[in-house]
Formats: sequence, C-alpha cells, structure tokens
Amino acid sequence: MLTLTRPDDWHLHLRDGAHLASVLPFTARQFARAVVMPNLKPPVTTVELARAYRDRILSSLPSNLGFEPLMTLYLTDKTPPSEIRAARSSGFIVGAKLYPAGATTHSDAGVTSMEKVFPALEAMEESGLVLQVHGEVTAPEVDVFDRERVFIDRVLADVVRRFPELKVVFEHVTTREAVEFVRAAHEGVGATVTPQHLLLNRNALFQGGIRPHHYCLPVLKRERDREALIEAATSDNPRFFLGTDSAPHARHTKENACGCAGIFSAHAALELYAEAFEQAGRLDRLQAFASERGADFYGLPRNTSKITLVRETWTPPAAYPFGEEEIVPFRAGETIAWRLIEESQT
Ligand code: NCD
Ligand code: ZN
Repeated sequence: MLTLTRPDDWHLHLRDGAHLASVLPFTARQFARAVVMPNLKPPVTTVELARAYRDRILSSLPSNLGFEPLMTLYLTDKTPPSEIRAARSSGFIVGAKLYPAGATTHSDAGVTSMEKVFPALEAMEESGLVLQVHGEVTAPEVDVFDRERVFIDRVLADVVRRFPELKVVFEHVTTREAVEFVRAAHEGVGATVTPQHLLLNRNALFQGGIRPHHYCLPVLKRERDREALIEAATSDNPRFFLGTDSAPHARHTKENACGCAGIFSAHAALELYAEAFEQAGRLDRLQAFASERGADFYGLPRNTSKITLVRETWTPPAAYPFGEEEIVPFRAGETIAWRLIEESQT
C-alpha cells in the first residue's frame, strides 16, 4: 500500500462539451488540481475565454469530487501585455502556453516567431505568470525525433537567457538533452514528465505493427532518453514534476490513415507513474514528484488530503465512452500493477 498527499497534474487536456464531461471524472478522482491546456478550437487566448472554459469545467464536475482547474492562456503572435497582466490578477490563471505554430494538435494559431511574443514574455517575467512551453521546432527539414533537441538550441536557450526572471516549464520533456538543459538552467526553469515517456521508448510505436495509441507529441524517443527521464523524475531535483499530458482523441481519429497525436492516460495516471517509479526502485520519490514539487514551483500550497494506491493488478477496458464516441486508454486490455482506492475527496 502506498499513501501519498493528493497529487496535482501540471499538464492536462480536458477538451470541451461532452468530451470534457467524459474525461474529467478520471482526473478529478485522483488529482486535486490540474493545469488545463488551452488548445481548444478556437483556442483560449483571453482571460474571458479562460473564465468561461473554467466555468464549463466546474459545471461538468461530478458533485462528489472537489477539483480545481488551473487555467492557462494560449499565446499568439498578438497576445497583448495587458492580457497577461489581467491573467495574472484573475487569480485562476497560472500560466500562458507557447505552441510553436504547427507543432501539435490545434496549434495553428500558435506563435510564428519568438520576437512576436517578447512583449508578452516581458509582462510574464514582471508579473510572475509561468511560461509553459511545447518545446519542438516545426521546421520541416528537422527530423521529427530531433525537434525537441533543436528547439533548445534554436529557441529555448535564448528565451531563458533573455528573460532571466521568467518562470518556464519545459512541458513533457522527452530527451536526455532536455533533461540536461533543465538541470543546468537558472532557477525558475522546470519540466513536466509524462507517464508514457517514463514507461516506453520509440520501439513501442512499432511493436508488432504500427501502434497509433502510442503516438503522441513530442513523439517517444530512444531508450537512452527514457533512462534520463527516469533518472530525473526519481532524483531529488525539485525541477522535475508530474504532468500527464493526457490527451484524449476519439478512437477513429487515431486509428486513421493520418492519426492524431495524443495518449489518454487520465484513467490510471498515478498508477502508471507508480509502476515507473517502482521499476526504478524509487517509489519513495513518487510523493515529491507527484504531490510537492509542482505546487512549490508554481508557488501554490501543497494539498493536505491523501490518496492511497494498492499493489493490485487490474486491466483497463478496451475503450471508454467519449461523448458519442470512444477513447482507447493507455494499456487498454493489458494489466496495470497499481490501483487507486476509490474514495471521495475530503
Ligand atoms: C496534445 C493534444 O492532443 O492536445 N497531443 C499530444 O500528443 N501531446 C497536444 C500536445 O500537448 O502536444
Ligand atoms: Zn499537451
């Protein structure tokens, strides 16, 4: 048995409408808070849109579950510094998300060149709003497996140098180079790590055939990268913390000639991390990674309630309902070694 302070998810996609209603309970039963990504269609680019999205999340929430959505603005070439300041004083927006235009799902309204967001970044640095970065270049000549590494050299190193007081989360790091960059960067630079990047390497994409449900962005990397992520997540370095990047897509949009990027893991998020930490012989570090470092990084109080995992095997179903459609969860039809004990939040 493993009892932890209730964790938070620092990177999550909840979608909207009926899809939101389908996936939200999975997160709310495990996590006290989650940073909810703004890549809706249209994107959440203003404080007012974020307020309305937050209200929709709260009204989709089952009444027995307490859960606090932490909102984030979608940065565009045109985000005015005044919107950043308004976000900071809203009290419910914790960050602004940088999507390089074209890098991932619903990123076409993203940033086309970094200079365009310098005024917004200056306002973020001044006000303390966190920059959350999807760290991949989009240049078509760059190999898809190198896009994160090249982003560090071409973009991120410069941003961090130019804005030394800016708090930056390098989201869903996937490479040894990203781990090294975060370790060596100045204080105020952190990173989230997903369960799939701790558990799988890129062989999982081609295990006996092409596996669309193992496809996410940034794409899975080599074993040497996975090892570096395990080492970072299970170390005592406060910069690495939990962010599932659970990203549901309807089954038919993934099992498709041009399948969408995103892995749905909210049904078993903490259990999957527990497996990864157990395999590394570091279950004792899960509490810090899942329940302490993210809150400390964002300057928010740690949670006080607890959750309990038991070491008991279970099998996620082949699919869960997703509005009128269905989603195939991570490990569908296969076993997971840990199970959360159901209890309502106190
Ligand atoms: C995310 C999504 O589907 O919204 N997909 C993914 O593969 N991670 C977008 C993102 O975080 O890149
Ligand atoms: Zn994401």
